Amino acid sequence: MASVDTLITTAPGDTCAPDLADGPWTFDLGTPGYGPGASMGDIIPTGSPRQGALPAEYQRANNDELHDRIRAAKAALGRRVVVLGHFYQRDEVVQHADFLGDSFQLANAAQTVPDAEAIVFCGVHFMAETADILARPGQNVILPNLAAGCSMADMADIDSVEECWEQLTAIYGTDADESGRVPVIPVTYMNSSAALKAFCGRNGGIVCTSSNAATVLEWAFERGQRVLFFPDQHLGRNTAKAMGIPLDQMPMWNPRKPLGGNEPDALADARVILWHGFCSVHKRFTVDQIEKARAEYPGVRVIVHPECPMPVVDAADEAGSTDYIRRAVAGATEPTTFAIGTEVNMVNRLAAEYPQHEIFCLDPVICPCSTMYRIHPGYLAWVLEELVAGRVTNRISVDAAVAGDARVALDRMLAAKPRVA
Ligand code: 13P
Ligand code: SF4
Repeated sequence: MASVDTLITTAPGDTCAPDLADGPWTFDLGTPGYGPGASMGDIIPTGSPRQGALPAEYQRANNDELHDRIRAAKAALGRRVVVLGHFYQRDEVVQHADFLGDSFQLANAAQTVPDAEAIVFCGVHFMAETADILARPGQNVILPNLAAGCSMADMADIDSVEECWEQLTAIYGTDADESGRVPVIPVTYMNSSAALKAFCGRNGGIVCTSSNAATVLEWAFERGQRVLFFPDQHLGRNTAKAMGIPLDQMPMWNPRKPLGGNEPDALADARVILWHGFCSVHKRFTVDQIEKARAEYPGVRVIVHPECPMPVVDAADEAGSTDYIRRAVAGATEPTTFAIGTEVNMVNRLAAEYPQHEIFCLDPVICPCSTMYRIHPGYLAWVLEELVAGRVTNRISVDAAVAGDARVALDRMLAAKPRVA
């Protein structure tokens, strides 16, 4: 199967934005925004990192030239550099990654290369921040395009979360119950700023990923009467529902409204307070798409990411993190038809890697994550050649005080273990 880049340029009618065919540098100097792709409709917060102009030589170079330059720069740098690539990156970038994985695996990978002076993170901003928090002192974490943010992560900012916390503290107080559980434990999804991870570290909370959300919620309920879960309402709802928590005990917190838009009674009974955030990539998947796949491919195995809305997760056969999806496909011993609800670059790569199976994306429109899309081989060649020249470009550096508290919340996650039945 052709890469998503090739499909975009050869079949532009089937994409969500025709300007995906342009290089992402076209958008670096325009109005601040996420660029074309699934999250282009979301509002980018003021103060989001901006990428300056990519030097013209990288914009003009064709793919073959860029690949040669990337390989040459990596060879010159040797073990001084490691390139990490997230599953949602385009194939043109993934082929240069030393490690490919989900956000959690890549954060761990960053820790396994203490000799590397530079970690080039082909992913999005919160992932590079996490790598910097976990990296050894002196290692430089580099994000090839600074505009590669995450619209979901941007839906919860530290000021709104602090304000929410004040309101919740006014309602619930700070006293533990008779079994020692505090009123609220804050839980942040990995897809959040370092400031929010630090908030959790300071306030008895923890980080989770889509692969350990249930374990982390169990950890939180051992220590707290209820959970404030941000920024992804869908991961929070899907995970808590699977644990048996009724939907009417999961009020949503809209940061633009007093008490998050809730009546005090609804909050009194709450077990999980869900922040009003979502992923625009996973919001595209629908129950109709699943029904169509089942009608057209009897016996199809439908797997979706838990960032999808609850009705989609309920209608699927399975839901799991990007690594769960990869393992499900890799582990299928009989030829199988898979309909997958996650980012299209990953789905098409699985289809190419496992030709014995029929694998397709539930969404018929090619619509990559618009911020993952901001990383292009041109930026990778640029930051690597800058390193060869002795210059560190696009360094992501988390303030030491923030990093210290964020590390506490990340370490709690790393230490949390699933309950043994
Ligand atoms: P993973 O945690 O599975 O890498 O997913 C990150 C992400 O952004 C999903 O949309
Ligand atoms: Fe963020 Fe969604 Fe893109 Fe993941 S897929 S980086 S959650 S916008």
